[in-house]
Formats: sequence, structure tokens, C-alpha cells
Amino acid sequence: MVLQAVDFLKPFCQDTPRYGLVLGTGLGNLISGLEVQETIPYEKIPYFPRSTVSFHKGELITGRLEGEPVLVMQGRFHYYEGYAANLITLPIRVMHALGVEILILTNAAGSIREDLPPGSIAVIRDHINLMGTNPLVGPYDPFLGERFPDMSEPYSRKLRQTAHRCADDLNLELAEVLYSAVSGPNFETAAEIRMLQRFGMDAVGMSVVPEVLVARQLGMAVLAFSAITDQTLPETMQPISHKQVARVAREIAPRLCDLIRAVVKTLS
Ligand code: HPA
Repeated sequence: MVLQAVDFLKPFCQDTPRYGLVLGTGLGNLISGLEVQETIPYEKIPYFPRSTVSFHKGELITGRLEGEPVLVMQGRFHYYEGYAANLITLPIRVMHALGVEILILTNAAGSIREDLPPGSIAVIRDHINLMGTNPLVGPYDPFLGERFPDMSEPYSRKLRQTAHRCADDLNLELAEVLYSAVSGPNFETAAEIRMLQRFGMDAVGMSVVPEVLVARQLGMAVLAFSAITDQTLPETMQPISHKQVARVAREIAPRLCDLIRAVVKTLS
């Protein structure tokens, strides 16, 4: 499946893309300053699932960011859409096979920490996988990467340091979070939030982790940003909606875009 998708996409890639960028909920318009070369709807790409979530575009874009060849996924696939974990991460394997070495992930996430308000941008330092699934489960083939991938540094320390330096230069506040991945699609109960807080977690979301596991299996360096779209504290719990999540993500997008461009520029 990976090789067929790669065969299809290769002619669209004028240069080998070094960076892969995945844009999450409400962040689909993030990349101002991207020189777009080709836009390929997911449904045209062999074996790619369909994006079924509102506020998610379903397009793969080839182009240049700060002069660097990039592959951009406008919209991702989620486990809660009903796709198997190893299918939602197929695009990560495809990006790797096309040459991507540095994967920059974005998502919308909820804060469960008092001093992390909605509207914040955070870089993910580490995670706990509470999705109840793992994209690496299945028959093994060396083509997939390591059978037992190491997770001592899933999110590159060097890339995180670069992100902090760029944020300082831009006068942007950048938090660091421990991210818990849940399957969704429901938002959390007060009891679940309390549990996550006791686990030491700062943020919660329904994506990113499957992509990180696959990327690390393949040896890619990962940098992941969360747009903090809501804050849920058990004592003062208010209803949240997907619409609100998407609205706040869109407000955060321009700042996050500046930061990602600065990171790519610094690394190039
Ligand atoms: N919980 C889970 N996923 C999310 C949230 C949340 O509060 N906000 C955005 N994605």
C-alpha cells in the first residue's frame, strides 16, 4: 500500500521533501507563505482513507516553505473515524518513503492544567498513549522499521529547543506539555480529567500519538505542537463543542504558522 501510494505521488514531487507537516483541526489554513506546487485530494491517492471530520480539509500539498521542499497534509485521519490505527498512519509511512526526515505535527488539544489557558501554543514533550490502540501492532516486516522501537525521546529534544528559541525570537509564549492521547470522539468526563491530572498530564487530544509511534519506528525526527483550544478543570467544568475547538484553533493558526516557518528557516 505504501509503495503504490508512493508511486502515485512521486511525479508530483519536484524535489525530495525533507519536511512533512500535518495540519490538525481548524489549522488547515495555517500555511501562509507556503509556495504551493501541487494539491492532491486524498481520494485520488491509492489506499488513503477519506477525511470525514468537519474543519479538516483532505488534501496533500507539495510545495516549498522558506525555500525548503515540504509535503503538507491538510487534515489528518483519526482512530475515532473508524479506521484502523495502521491505516490512519499510512500517510506517515508514505511521507517517509518520499524522503521526509523531519515530521512537524499540529493538533487541537484541551488543557487540563490551571495555568494553560485556551489560546496557548504548546510543544509536546512526551505522551501517554491511552487510545486503546497502537498502529505498530500486526505482522512484522523489516520494511516497517524496528519491531520494538525505542521511545526514550519520541519528540526530538533538539527540535524542541529550536522551537523555544524561535518562539523567543518571535515574542511568542510557548508552553511544554505532556499529552495524553484518547480515542474520542467524546470529550472527557470530569472523572477522566481528574485521572489524567493525577497521571501528571497537561493536555488531552484525539490524535498525534499514532503518527509519532510510526514516525519513530521509521527513525524520523518529530516535533509536535498543540493548539490549546479549551481548558477543562473538573471543578469548573463547562460543555465544550467541536465548533469551539475549531474556532479557537483558527485564532491560534497565524501564530503557530509564524513559529513553524521560523523553525523550518532555522533548520535549513
Ligand atoms: N479533549 C480531547 N480532545 C480535544 C480537546 C479536549 O478537550 N480539545 C481539542 N481536542
